[in-house]
Amino acid sequence: MPNKRNILITGGAGFIGSHVVRLFVTKYPEYRIVNLDKLTYAGNLANLKDVEQAENYTFVKADICDFERMLEVFRDYRIDGVIHLAAESHVDRSIKDPFTFARTNVMGTLSLLQAAKMSWEGAYEGKRFYHISTDEVYGALDFDGTFFTETTKYDPHSPYSASKASSDHFVRAFHDTFGLPVVVTNCSNNYGPYQFPEKLIPLFINNIRHNKPLPVYGKGENVRDWLYVVDHARAIDVIFHQGKVADTYNIGGFNEWKNIDLIKVLIRTVDRLLGRPEGASEHLITYVTDRAGHDLRYAIDSTKLKKELGWEPSLQFEEGIEKTVKWYLDNQTWLDNVTSGDYQSYYEKMYGSR
Ligand code: NAD
Ligand code: TYD
Repeated sequence: MPNKRNILITGGAGFIGSHVVRLFVTKYPEYRIVNLDKLTYAGNLANLKDVEQAENYTFVKADICDFERMLEVFRDYRIDGVIHLAAESHVDRSIKDPFTFARTNVMGTLSLLQAAKMSWEGAYEGKRFYHISTDEVYGALDFDGTFFTETTKYDPHSPYSASKASSDHFVRAFHDTFGLPVVVTNCSNNYGPYQFPEKLIPLFINNIRHNKPLPVYGKGENVRDWLYVVDHARAIDVIFHQGKVADTYNIGGFNEWKNIDLIKVLIRTVDRLLGRPEGASEHLITYVTDRAGHDLRYAIDSTKLKKELGWEPSLQFEEGIEKTVKWYLDNQTWLDNVTSGDYQSYYEKMYGSR
């Protein structure tokens, strides 16, 4: 790969994207990093305050579905690598509004693929289109000790996972049909700083702090496999640079938790850090109607990534959760801004309304 690169990171103002932008901007001063984001409710440039002045960083406010604009961005910045994270990402929202998910996740990905293909015109040497996907495309596992591997058949159940599965198919089709140098990864649930507080971990930390009910779907018995977001960003770095073209890698930390057990860990950690008796907030647990089509269990086998590219998670879960809870407790203003929507009006003044 060339030393100097112009890398387009889509969705860089979101949760995982902001960690990827931070890692690339600071680790590779010789690269130009173009962060392209529509700034939906989930995009927040405050996530990148510490890197926004860096010389090798540029922000472009745009919608990935705007194909003409994508062509311009490829041309203007001579993009030779793409790390595509922009997406609608919340399952509950996809149940209420599946159209937005099909638009951004499917049509938006197609628009980027077509822009890459037309801009690169078959000169694929040194180029790379890296698509970030999820383990949810594989469907749901039983409590039988099995794992999702790279060859598990796709079986999505939610409109979110169906839209991500569809985008994965388009990415692979662009390799098989046009030779586009793609790579795809499927990662398990991420947690850590800057996650929008509609997702389980930040929502519950905030609610525990404010003594609000904790809405546990169903019996709380669903299992998720949790990875610290910075470890996901580290994996993306390794795979962007060393992953094999047209290959797929699963990313996960072999770290399965039943929701209710994880929630109790969160309660004990928040209580302790706030000086309350540990477990005092358990009365906030409120069992509510289950999510429609709620996948029972996700579990990723990331052996291939470890064996072939040497990646392993750097943090133990206990350490990651402690850091995460501390971060949300120390960054109440960030949480208040995103829950009140204030960050949107602030950035609207800078970049126009969306
Ligand atoms: P997020 O919702 O926090 O951020 C998504 C970002 O994409 C936001 O900044 C948003 O403004 C931007 N965006 C949305 N629609 C856009 C559009 N049409 N044009 C341009 N930008 C747009 O999501 P996240 O949790 O950071 O997830 C990032 C990616 O990683 C997604 O593709 C998701 O499917 C995948 N993923 C997420 C997880 C997870 O646990 N969060 C796990 C595995 C894979
Ligand atoms: P979430 O963070 O939405 O991620 P995903 O659905 O992509 O796995 O949810 C994680 C788990 O927590 C999932 O099993 C649903 C459950 N959950 C609740 O029980 N209550 C909630 O309020 C939320 C947001 C999630």
